[in-house]
Amino acid sequence: MARLSITCLYLLVTLLGGFLEHADSTSYLEGIPTIPFTSHDSSQGNGFFSLRNVQKIIIDKKYANATDQDGSTLIPPTLLQFANIFVEDVQTIFKLSMDVELASQHEEGQVFLTVDRGRNGFVDAAGRFTSEGYQVEVNATGIIVTGASPLGVWWATRTLLQQALLHKDISIPWGRGTDNPGWATRGVMLDVGRHFYPADFLVEMCAYMSFFKQNTFHLHLSDNLWNNPRYTTDDFMGLYARLRLWADDNEVAVRGLNRFANESYTRQQFDDIQTRCAARGVTVLPEIEAPGHALVLTQWKPQLAYGRDMSLLNISHPETIPTMKAVWGVFLKWFHCKVVSIGADEYQGPAGDYYYFVNILAGFIGAHSGKQVRTWGMFPPARDGPVGPPGSARRPIFQNISIQHWEFFEDDAYNDYIRNNYSVVNSNDDFYVVNKYGGEGGYPNRINVSRTFGDGDSGSGPWRPNLFDQHNATRNPPADNPYILGAIAALWNDPGPNASVYSEAYYAWREGIPALADKHWGGNLSGGAFNRVFAKIHPYTPGQNLERRIPSNGPVVFNYTFDKLPALQSANTLSPSPLLTRVVDTSPNGYDAETDCSISTETLADGSSTFVNITPDCSLRTPLTSKGRNYTLALSLRITSKDDPTNTTLLSGRDSALMLTPTLTLFASGNYYRLPPSKISFDDWVDVRIISRGNQTFAEMTPSSSSHGTTIRQEFRAEIGLHGDGMKSVEIAIEAPLHTLGGAGSGWTGQARSFSLSSEA
Ligand SMILES: *[C@@H]1O[C@H](CO)[C@@H](O)[C@H](O)[C@H]1NC(C)=O
Ligand SMILES: *[C@@H]1O[C@H](CO)[C@@H](O)[C@H](O)[C@H]1NC(C)=O
Ligand SMILES: *[C@@H]1O[C@H](CO)[C@@H](O)[C@H](O)[C@H]1NC(C)=O
Ligand SMILES: *[C@@H]1O[C@H](CO)[C@@H](O)[C@H](O)[C@H]1NC(C)=O
Ligand SMILES: *[C@@H]1O[C@H](CO)[C@@H](O)[C@H](O)[C@H]1NC(C)=O
Ligand SMILES: *[C@@H]1O[C@H](CO)[C@@H](O)[C@H](O)[C@H]1NC(C)=O
Ligand SMILES: *[C@@H]1O[C@H](CO)[C@@H](O)[C@H](O)[C@H]1NC(C)=O
Ligand SMILES: *[C@@H]1O[C@H](CO)[C@@H](O)[C@H](O)[C@H]1NC(C)=O
Ligand SMILES: *[C@@H]1O[C@H](CO)[C@@H](O)[C@H](O)[C@H]1NC(C)=O
Ligand SMILES: *[C@@H]1O[C@H](CO)[C@@H](O)[C@H](O)[C@H]1NC(C)=O
Ligand SMILES: *[C@@H]1O[C@H](CO)[C@@H](O)[C@H](O)[C@H]1NC(C)=O
Ligand SMILES: *[C@@H]1O[C@H](CO)[C@@H](O)[C@H](O)[C@H]1NC(C)=O
Repeated sequence: MARLSITCLYLLVTLLGGFLEHADSTSYLEGIPTIPFTSHDSSQGNGFFSLRNVQKIIIDKKYANATDQDGSTLIPPTLLQFANIFVEDVQTIFKLSMDVELASQHEEGQVFLTVDRGRNGFVDAAGRFTSEGYQVEVNATGIIVTGASPLGVWWATRTLLQQALLHKDISIPWGRGTDNPGWATRGVMLDVGRHFYPADFLVEMCAYMSFFKQNTFHLHLSDNLWNNPRYTTDDFMGLYARLRLWADDNEVAVRGLNRFANESYTRQQFDDIQTRCAARGVTVLPEIEAPGHALVLTQWKPQLAYGRDMSLLNISHPETIPTMKAVWGVFLKWFHCKVVSIGADEYQGPAGDYYYFVNILAGFIGAHSGKQVRTWGMFPPARDGPVGPPGSARRPIFQNISIQHWEFFEDDAYNDYIRNNYSVVNSNDDFYVVNKYGGEGGYPNRINVSRTFGDGDSGSGPWRPNLFDQHNATRNPPADNPYILGAIAALWNDPGPNASVYSEAYYAWREGIPALADKHWGGNLSGGAFNRVFAKIHPYTPGQNLERRIPSNGPVVFNYTFDKLPALQSANTLSPSPLLTRVVDTSPNGYDAETDCSISTETLADGSSTFVNITPDCSLRTPLTSKGRNYTLALSLRITSKDDPTNTTLLSGRDSALMLTPTLTLFASGNYYRLPPSKISFDDWVDVRIISRGNQTFAEMTPSSSSHGTTIRQEFRAEIGLHGDGMKSVEIAIEAPLHTLGGAGSGWTGQARSFSLSSEA
């Protein structure tokens, strides 16, 4: 009996082993996204090639200056430029130094990057050639990457980084794979109209997306807060409405359109964003929205408004079309991409006017720049009947305008558009995010990751870009339908500019981008595998530090206790010391600070204490700038005078400032987050702790006068408007300001006697 069992077990294992081997040989490497990969069969030996001993990334010199011409960017990097970034990434992630060398062939033990557009197998889901495909061959002699173009090689380098992170000893399994994206448009859209984001944030987001092989960052560059029907003209004129592009004074055609220079992108900044995103294979796709969501235009030219609703343009007003042509005439030359979006969403005037508007603008944009035009889906063409004259409801938009579908009440992407030969991007609102309150039962503030994997939703299976409706097959074309361009997930800022800080857009997408990226590419990760792989590779995503991590041995990041400093001058010396004093960090990290302020010693109730005398003429500066969630920032200080009680900056850093205006306040992303009034007085010593825990930020204040300190705890909250119908208080997660204590413009004089940062909260 026992013997039989063992035999059975043996048979089972043999069968299973054979099955697994077979499955393996036509299988996928886990990665985000997965990679089709055939492991070498045992006759060739099974093993791994480690990057540890690679000295050179060899570029096929024939292609060093080659660029991909098929992608959507007009500023594609060369193979050499991509290779240089790969080498930087290898250095950052693995601390390995490699050289880039040009040669005509592979060399034993090294990595060789080449291009072969004609090689078989570079096909997308519809069976068409894709320049983003690549083949990778790994064996004992090294790695050979053959891209369909330099962009294909770039995606291959993401595969190498991910695999080296996932296998021990920075190694990649022997084998061979040909990997192609199923769809050419893969990415996200950020509403930068209702909320500003600085250029660096956008570039870091591109780096984040790129690690997971997404290639499209759609920027919704203009919009306004919701046009509540009860608003008066005056309300409309004061309502938050923005276009983020800042043209210089020579551009007379748009003079006065943008009045907010500090929350805009100049042409040079926008160039820089596009170039730095393209450097990692990501194309910025700009959108300027009209004839709906167009309040920024009517605040500039009120005569263009459509009746009472100033967010809509009156298309039949004689100045409307010329105005839009003028706006595009200025900004088209800023955009280094083949497709631009003119918005054209949620218009409430007549369909005929809408068609006329879209077609005229598309014609203008095509004639002036050769660019293709995209609009949001709405007013789909009538399913039957003859085509009417221009401007009539029976003359729909041109078929060469691509459609971004988002909701079935606007259009049925497959039956209305694709079956009529329009190309469509799938932005169905299953993956919409409203940062950070989308109304009761409304859009969530994070992407629903389990929905991408089809988990917890029996019968639907994993989501794919061809699934407009996971629950209704009649709305979905087959995956190989050539009119599906791909998918873009959108994040909207309907609650307006003060609802979130910049990084909260990243946190809303943190898991969602990589989860969707697997599906956008055509990968087949399960939810469980995703969690496993994500945890291993995510902390190393190169080119960004969106979480504002600080390397640290242990939870204490820095700890400045001024006791070890020499008391250079007495407290009553008015002129600050001209000397720079090094302030030793007593944590193991050695993040020493420096100060040009004087140091004093005073005997306080709790014993002798050494402290730094802060004035507007001197400061204490750390080598750090900002720390993301979680943290506890602790500061012990007292304030002897303030220049302006409404504008006192205690501590400032890259992403935020800690202020007294007059309660404790965090200033971040252009907004003030104030604590409610409290009885705390900073005239005497107060221990202040700023605590970031998950998506919330707190303050704890312990006045030293209250013996055995009564601590006051409060939370920083965002008070957001609900479209003119009330307010709501929501969490806010603000980075710690770390760089400068006191100094020019800070507006206060006082003392600080300890200053520390921990990553625990
Ligand atoms: C690449 O282009 C640069 C500048 O145009 C040129 O100096 C260089 O020789 C070219 N390299 C190769 C390998 O063709
Ligand atoms: C390794 O791969 C290269 C490229 O395909 C091939 O030429 C070479 O013969 C392979 N070597 C071994 C030992 O399999
Ligand atoms: C649109 O403009 C035309 C021409 O100026 C005007 O006759 C019409 O009343 C306007 N329509 C609305 C709804 O504002
Ligand atoms: C799009 O199609 C229209 C109508 O057929 C045509 O007039 C226009 O030139 C096309 N635009 C582009 C950019 O191809
Ligand atoms: C779509 O394209 C096909 C193939 O070119 C053509 O036969 C068909 O008439 C087109 N349909 C429409 C609605 O334009
Ligand atoms: C996420 O999506 C799944 C599958 O569609 C659904 O069952 C679940 O309720 C969603 N979760 C949230 C928080 O909306
Ligand atoms: C499924 O989609 C078709 C086509 O859009 C539509 O007519 C039908 O009502 C949908 N069914 C359900 C249950 O939503
Ligand atoms: C910083 O050092 C002081 C003095 O050694 C100690 O009392 C305090 O707990 C330390 N702070 C942190 C956050 O470790
Ligand atoms: C831009 O300027 C406005 C008006 O002065 C101000 O409210 C806002 O905070 C500034 N934005 C940033 C990001 O500093
Ligand atoms: C931050 O704290 C929250 C709440 O305790 C916890 O859920 C989260 O995992 C922590 N995050 C980090 C990065 O430690
Ligand atoms: C904050 O985090 C909590 C716990 O994870 C979550 O329930 C809540 O929805 C989050 N709030 C926002 C605004 O994201
Ligand atoms: C606060 O003071 C700083 C430095 O003097 C100044 O640049 C800033 O404009 C002031 N802010 C306000 C709101 O007054």
